[in-house]
Amino acid sequence: MTARFPVARPRRLRTTPAMRRLVAQTRVHPGELILPMFVKEGIESPHPVSSMPGVYQHTRESLRKAAHEAVEAGVGAIMLFGIPEFKDEHGSSADDPAGIVQKALRDLSADLGDDIVLMADLCLDEYTSHGHCGLLTDSGEVDNDATLERYASIALAQAAAGVQVVGPSGMMDGQVGAIRTALDKAGRTDVAILAYAAKYSSAFYGPFREAAECAPQFGDRASYQQDPANASEALREAELDIAEGADMVMVKPGLAYLDIVARIADSVRVPVSAYQVSGEYAMVEAAAQNGWLDRERVILETLTSYRRAGAGQILTYWATEAARLLR
Ligand code: PBG
Repeated sequence: MTARFPVARPRRLRTTPAMRRLVAQTRVHPGELILPMFVKEGIESPHPVSSMPGVYQHTRESLRKAAHEAVEAGVGAIMLFGIPEFKDEHGSSADDPAGIVQKALRDLSADLGDDIVLMADLCLDEYTSHGHCGLLTDSGEVDNDATLERYASIALAQAAAGVQVVGPSGMMDGQVGAIRTALDKAGRTDVAILAYAAKYSSAFYGPFREAAECAPQFGDRASYQQDPANASEALREAELDIAEGADMVMVKPGLAYLDIVARIADSVRVPVSAYQVSGEYAMVEAAAQNGWLDRERVILETLTSYRRAGAGQILTYWATEAARLLR
């Protein structure tokens, strides 16, 4: 007899695909995936986003088609971003009932009914001429409280157009409370809030700024988005948002912040989602184009890691494709 060592052999549970499937602790379901989509006003055909191969700025028509494909694949929700033709200092197109997001929301709610959850990003940066997420004071600072009134008005416009969940992403203090109050006063207690609770000031948003045409024209967003060095602040933001009425909270970006996802998921009692942002997408696509990574495996591995960290829902530009792969 050979020596009976080692006694513990974890490899026994890794022997076959069936064995591994049997003991897998984490699964990703298509229904937990949220697809961010861009719809642009005044274009004749969809525009590819060069830094995000496979992602488009949609026309209203091409958006409807892509949204239908997401539904077919079993994706759980769509998060809509709009790119208006007209931008001004106040972001007037954001709450215009005839604004591009409102039109697209009407299209999608008519087309898709209850087959998928309709969400919209609620922010000003795509709509302001200066590209900041709020109104500016004369000295060029973002004016927190004046911005809250704009957000409240955008929430009402999106609600009237059929949104089910608004996603305030501007990181203004008190934004969730301001939006909840406005919705409730208007009798729209049914509209839920997915708060971008912990949104970091991140270089991983680079490609998004091309996709959404919202790069700040001066300065950066560091006075309102969180410092990547901080963790407790993220918990505080999540707690405040929940106290103000957030139904769900989000961490963004995801991959470089999975520790934050895990901490928030451990400490709050609402669904926690995480955003696999544009830079994460671009990195994988670029490496795959060079033949340096196995694209599909990396996509599924990252999604699994998000879930393992505790994210309930994942926003990902790969949602439709991943949903198909997972079937
Ligand atoms: C702001 C907003 C941003 C993203 C989502 N909402 C950009 C920013 O804060 O600069 C980034 C998403 C991504 O990178 O995929 N409305």
